Amino acid sequence: MWTVQHGPGTKPKLFAALALAAAIVLARAQTDLGGSIVMGFDDPAIQYASNVLKDPISELQRKLDRGEARLRFDKERGYLPSVLELLKVPVSSQALVFSKTSFQLQRITPQTPRAIYFNDQVYIGYVVDGDVVEASAVDPEKGAIFYTLDQSGKTTPRFVRRDECLQCHASPRTLGVPGHMVRSVYTGTDGYPIFQAGGFVTDHRSPLRERWGGWYVTGTHGADLHMGNAFLRGDNPDAMDLKAGANVTDLASRFDTDRYLSPHSDIVALMALEHQTRMHNLITRVSYEARTAMEQQVSMNRALKRPDDEWSDSTRRRIYGPSEVLLQYMLFRDEAPLHAPVKGTSAFTADFPRQGPRDRKGRSLRDLDLTKRLLRYPCSYLIYSEAFDALPKEVAEYVYRRLWEVLSGGDTGKVYGTLTASERADIAGILHDTKPAFAAYWDSRRGSSTR
Ligand code: HEC
Repeated sequence: MWTVQHGPGTKPKLFAALALAAAIVLARAQTDLGGSIVMGFDDPAIQYASNVLKDPISELQRKLDRGEARLRFDKERGYLPSVLELLKVPVSSQALVFSKTSFQLQRITPQTPRAIYFNDQVYIGYVVDGDVVEASAVDPEKGAIFYTLDQSGKTTPRFVRRDECLQCHASPRTLGVPGHMVRSVYTGTDGYPIFQAGGFVTDHRSPLRERWGGWYVTGTHGADLHMGNAFLRGDNPDAMDLKAGANVTDLASRFDTDRYLSPHSDIVALMALEHQTRMHNLITRVSYEARTAMEQQVSMNRALKRPDDEWSDSTRRRIYGPSEVLLQYMLFRDEAPLHAPVKGTSAFTADFPRQGPRDRKGRSLRDLDLTKRLLRYPCSYLIYSEAFDALPKEVAEYVYRRLWEVLSGGDTGKVYGTLTASERADIAGILHDTKPAFAAYWDSRRGSSTR
């Protein structure tokens, strides 16, 4: 698998490796962190395999072990309803994918799509009559941790960690770190992806036209077309009838929706899912980049008897380059604009903003726009996540400084030029009331809080 590329015993090779790594990192830091790199997550600074876990599923498993929580078995859907309830994952987040692009693919068909449910920290996968419930959960330092839960009902239910999921879930599609993804592929009527026709990994930057191939999508979106609800016959992508899949609000004629907890595959839930999968991956990637860079620098500093935290310019670039990419995504730079209002069918649009938090004027980063973009105030709600707070101090300082520069209007460059003065002020106001670390930095720059 992805073996250790540098470890405590490899110092002699360190200098050459450092020079090379610095050159590579410099070249890619400016871009979007794509490319074919898979990070070395056995690295001593990362220790992905260690069992010291802080993700919500490992916490739930500890409660199950101590008898403080219980999973109920439902004859029809096994542990799924109980898992969602215990992990506070709303049913309204349900999104249905019918392409055979993931685990348990034999059971995924257009008549029996796979259901995905999510909140800010946990993603759950469910296949009708599947052997297991699948889950990925965010560990604040390690990134996504993968689990399955046996659905036979014959054993004591237990979430088992499954690192073999990383063959897909730690690939260039997940930014090279253990992470999440939404794929969009041209799919045949049998559910098999037609890879010759192409495909996409989608996030909030993807135009609607590239989204949701192989997914059911319920909701209206005007004349904008997407790839959902449609099949490709043959291998010419232009031949797919996208109009037939547009503005679908009811899936009952396509498969037996009663077998699912909800009949929806909500368009707004899908948009939030796409935003946050890449956001989670970016947080993990930036954290990995910074931690490995700093660890290498500390080893070198010790060899040269310098203070531990004397960062070279190249180490700084390895920290700040990826951090800026994170900031851009977090502030929705390059979000694909909507050309008509989007309206979902499930309760997601109501449930999602209700989670807050809200500022003194009643505003929240979770307020939805859905006329020209996803969020009313374009700043990711994952700024409230534990993973964000667990970013190395050097990354956090950089991001808060840059947030200050951009939101206070000091950064007038064209990178953030699409943010209007009032949007900047709104986001700053919300963060000031709801994110103490932001408020502390903001106030220290302003001298005092005079907002
Ligand atoms: C063959 C590649 C592949 C393997 C192996 C795989 N997955 Fe996935 N997984 C995907 C893809 C692709 C998606 C996105 C949905 C889609 O397009 O089908 C996904 C999505 C998910 C999601 C929803 C959100 C996310 O991306 O985290 C969960 C949860 C999940 N997988 C769990 C697992 C678990 C647990 C395992 C191992 C037991 C696993 N997967 C193995 C390809 C894979």
